[in-house]
Amino acid sequence: MAQQEDVFKKIVSHCKEYGFVFPSSEIYDGLGAVYDYGQMGVELKNNIKKYWWDAMVRLNENIVGLDSAIFMHPTIWKASGHVDAFNDPLIDNKDSKKRYRADVLIEDEIAKYDDKINKEVEKAAKRFGDSFDEAQFRSTNARVLEHQAKRDALHGRYSKALNANDLEELRQIILDEGIACPISGTRNWTEVRQFNLMFSTEMGSTTEGSMKVYLRPETAQGIFVNYLNVQKTGRMKLPFGIAQIGKAFRNEIVARQFIFRMREFEQMEMQFFVKPGTELEWFAKWKQTRLKWHEALGMGDKKYRFHDHDKLAHYANAATDIEFEMPFGFKEVEGIHSRTNFDLSSHEKYSGKNIRYFDPELNESYVPYVIETSIGVDRMFLSIICGAYKEEVLENGESRVVLQLPAALAPVKLAVLPLVKKDGLPEIARDIIKDLKFEFNCQYDEKDSIGKRYRRQDAIGTPYCITVDHQTLDDKTVTIRYRDSMLQERVSIDALNGIIADKVNIKNLLKAL
Ligand code: GAP
Repeated sequence: MAQQEDVFKKIVSHCKEYGFVFPSSEIYDGLGAVYDYGQMGVELKNNIKKYWWDAMVRLNENIVGLDSAIFMHPTIWKASGHVDAFNDPLIDNKDSKKRYRADVLIEDEIAKYDDKINKEVEKAAKRFGDSFDEAQFRSTNARVLEHQAKRDALHGRYSKALNANDLEELRQIILDEGIACPISGTRNWTEVRQFNLMFSTEMGSTTEGSMKVYLRPETAQGIFVNYLNVQKTGRMKLPFGIAQIGKAFRNEIVARQFIFRMREFEQMEMQFFVKPGTELEWFAKWKQTRLKWHEALGMGDKKYRFHDHDKLAHYANAATDIEFEMPFGFKEVEGIHSRTNFDLSSHEKYSGKNIRYFDPELNESYVPYVIETSIGVDRMFLSIICGAYKEEVLENGESRVVLQLPAALAPVKLAVLPLVKKDGLPEIARDIIKDLKFEFNCQYDEKDSIGKRYRRQDAIGTPYCITVDHQTLDDKTVTIRYRDSMLQERVSIDALNGIIADKVNIKNLLKAL
């Protein structure tokens, strides 16, 4: 575990060193849980968004796009339930004056029991070697059973308190478990209070009076309130979807793990409107479709798993998360929810407008049901970087850090490197870029030894390095070096476009879906 934490620290500093992610407002000592994307980060982020957008909007003739405003009428957030219920339970330690999420403190405690169990299993696996039967060990070992019983009892009590919104009971659990503040080490806790996660601001001048508006905490509501506009103007028939990519804002209290939990982040959300009664079928279909989208990136199928929710929000009748194995464990990257007709019905009620869909086949109007797929761009970015980061020891004893990014998502597709800065080699290298820059993002680099230049490109995940040498002057061939295998081949300059396009085009990912 400690080793994985070290890897994560290295990934965070790698992101900064190579221009992927910078802390926001860094020269003013930063702003908590807000980050900027640098010259490499913005390219990777744009490629992720394009992969998602094309998979949704281009590949499905019944899904269209939308770009709704961040500011919306404040009643929208009343109707959606965010004003009343988008809360985190907070608790303060009176000695350190530090504020925590009560649910996170308890979940961390549950995770400690899981760690204890896993350690017992690991120890036993080492002891017994090949003959180890993990399932049998878990169901018979006295220590494991004792930890499991305590874990299950705590989990049961916690879920009940959370579902009942019982803040006193959450506090009591923290006291009973003896949970201490990591800063002061004391158990001197305040009451638990609800804290709304929405940011608000004022719209309009003060003489006319101003209106309290919110920075949207999700992009989905922009889709719901436009669904009839899109349906009518696009002459869409059920089932159909609306996809949107945009910023969302949440005043997260426990903001940690780098870009995993941010206060300003970006979502890619798709609401799929279906006939009531067919929603669970569509839910099952979208679960598989979305998993396939992730797996097509080739990061390894074992890196993903579903986490089906057994506790459902009052408006949902099915929900799952797609989790990715980050260095700090399996974590949610995407949520898929069957949201019934809750949001549309609520907007109908609050706005007083009829937003029903007229079904020409049934000759009747109804409020459609909705399946939502919702993925954070930043979390997806983090999962890709974590999955791609590799430290390798080479045959000659040297080491390298390489980002084995899916080629279609890599910020730079090829680097063109003249072996020396003279003899006309830089000019040929520039000519190659002049030709290929219309197809791919290319980088020119002539500084330092060729080995150092390869390492720089490995570190940003460039799949191909093209070296122009003296032989190029004679026969118009260059070497192409492959990032992952580091193998090199001699190929003609004319063949480059074909070789590279075959691997780096997002089209190839889309065709695999
Ligand atoms: N419309 C549904 C919705 O917003 P959510 O589970 O709260 O559902 C969906 O968020 C996705 O948005 C998450 O799976 C995650 O990838 C991303 N996300 C949510 N909060 C985030 C945060 N504070 N920082 C980064 N990404 C976040």
